[in-house]
Amino acid sequence: MFVDADATAEVSLTVNGRAVTVAVSPRTTLSDVLRDRLGLTGTHVGCEHGVCGMCTVLLDGEAVRACLLFAVQCEGAALTTVEGLGAVDDQHPLQQAFAHHHALQCGFCTPGMLMSSYDLLAGGTYDEATLPEDMSGVLCRCTGYRGILAAVADVARTHPDGVPPPRAAVPPALVGRVSGAPPQTSGVRDATRSPEIPAEITVPSGPPTVTVDVRRGLASPVDDVWAVLADVSRLVACLPGAEMTEDLGDDRYRGRAVVALGPVSLRFEGLAQVEERDAASRRMRVLAQGADRGGSSTQAVIRLAADPSPDGGTTLWADADVHLSGRVAQFGRALAGDVSRRMFEQFAANVDEAARTGEAPRSTTSPLRLVVTALFGGLRVRGRRLLARITRSARDTSQ
Ligand code: FES
Ligand code: FES
Repeated sequence: MFVDADATAEVSLTVNGRAVTVAVSPRTTLSDVLRDRLGLTGTHVGCEHGVCGMCTVLLDGEAVRACLLFAVQCEGAALTTVEGLGAVDDQHPLQQAFAHHHALQCGFCTPGMLMSSYDLLAGGTYDEATLPEDMSGVLCRCTGYRGILAAVADVARTHPDGVPPPRAAVPPALVGRVSGAPPQTSGVRDATRSPEIPAEITVPSGPPTVTVDVRRGLASPVDDVWAVLADVSRLVACLPGAEMTEDLGDDRYRGRAVVALGPVSLRFEGLAQVEERDAASRRMRVLAQGADRGGSSTQAVIRLAADPSPDGGTTLWADADVHLSGRVAQFGRALAGDVSRRMFEQFAANVDEAARTGEAPRSTTSPLRLVVTALFGGLRVRGRRLLARITRSARDTSQ
């Protein structure tokens, strides 16, 4: 589709409980609209590359990088910025805890830290043991991490039944992750609503966002490994964060999967279909399609194969063409590829265990930690590149 870059489009949003409509060009980012058009300068902008997390806001109740979203992608969405979290005379418990624990120095990262920590506490995945990693999606250049983590842990301890919702007059959809089902609010996407699940799986014809091609040696004999792959309920039990919710017949299944990138958590619901299964060559082809309530969607063509290896074990192969769109596509090919490969590593280890024991695997690594590890890896690489660029530009200016 051709879009005129100089054209303007009207976008209607609910920001901190207020309906607003702005005319923007297609390339205007959400962070620019919030800061320059709506005067909500509490949303800070640091890297503008999705790395530093300063611009984190809640979109339909979940954390996103406002610098990576075009405003036109947010039509009909409900946004909460740090201004909506609490007010000077009515601070949110997180804001009070940040003040109490001296969790800010220059304060530049504070809005991002507050919104990310709110998302973490409201998302139901809080774990004090992994808090430093879970908060690693926002960088503090003053390195005031100890106070920040102490503040978040304090609020988690004092609100064991869930962190209070933002103070602003936000639509009920935004607080749905904290307590029971909210009523529908007209004109606002309901963040608790299940995403639309299509009846048929359609795979885009264009190039995939990410391709995965991995193999791993397993100790278990090939027949035991194939027995796991051929039994869909055992196979799904080996996928980190996935569960099957319905057998639709004809090798079609409904299910869900949770994927988390630092404090950003995506809950996909969708369909999978075993399109081919050849017991003689121990090969299978699976189509999968899922969507999350925040507008992310993914389709994948996955091929799995098990071959005997000379040592009596098995070589497990997986290659996949993965198509990503929406919020999940923000994270870029390298990071999404890294996440997919790490998930496969965990899957392969689980298949080995299931083949050896004949039972569902006891997964010791949650999908959250898996992905956070990947995010750390990605951040380190990007951090080094950023540093190299800054050093280069400083050198150029001084010459
Ligand atoms: S400004 Fe958006 S992540 Fe850095
Ligand atoms: S307090 Fe200065 S960047 Fe975090």
